[in-house]
Amino acid sequence: MRFSSFFVVAGLAAVGQAQQKLKVMFLGDSITEITCWRPQVWSQLAAANLTSSIQLVGSMNTIPGSCQKPAGFDARHEGHSGYQAYDVARNNIAGWVRSTTPDIVQFMLGTNDVNIGKRNQQAILDAYTSILGSLRAANPNVHVIIVKMIPTQWSDSTIEAVNTAIPGWASQRTTAQSPITVADASRAAGYTNAMLAGDRVHPNSQGDQFIAKQVGPVLIKVIKEKLGTA
Ligand SMILES: *[C@@H]1O[C@H](CO)[C@@H](O)[C@H](O)[C@H]1NC(C)=O
Repeated sequence: MRFSSFFVVAGLAAVGQAQQKLKVMFLGDSITEITCWRPQVWSQLAAANLTSSIQLVGSMNTIPGSCQKPAGFDARHEGHSGYQAYDVARNNIAGWVRSTTPDIVQFMLGTNDVNIGKRNQQAILDAYTSILGSLRAANPNVHVIIVKMIPTQWSDSTIEAVNTAIPGWASQRTTAQSPITVADASRAAGYTNAMLAGDRVHPNSQGDQFIAKQVGPVLIKVIKEKLGTA
């Protein structure tokens, strides 16, 4: 009897501990999946002593072998090569977040809508709105970090237009319960063609560093706000 009640109490304590961790999702396309900025952001979180306060969530658990991985790096994410915001909104996101119910979702999407889907600015912004609805349906308190897209080498005009529209899109939809914060990996923020790989679309190692520099501090600020330690 004594033993069993001890184990029950210990089990409850463990559950309580797990529930306190903030669930963080990195959502995107190949620029999230097959690049090396995620471990760099993890290093920033570790330097800020935040890795024990969070849990990364997502159906993916991959990182390119070429990336430098800090100790304890959590490779979970929701980056899917080739995916368009349009398709993520219609087919994927509701299911992805139904089970994981993230507290914080960071996303960069839209590059494939332009390069593969040939979609226009409004279609991409509408997809963002739909994705936001699914995130809030899974967790009404979700904090969303939307990242302005990195440029293509030819400065695709639709990508640039969506990036310009993102702050207005965010300010129209942010709420006290479910804030939206903008992070900026765009040309305007300083992303140069020297940061692009030979395919003119993906980040090289310099680009990874730039994305990590633009995303990491914003994520740290949001985590601290959520933890009440900001
Ligand atoms: C790091 O975070 C943990 C968990 O929140 C906390 O217990 C610990 O005191 C922190 N350490 C430092 C050096 O701030």
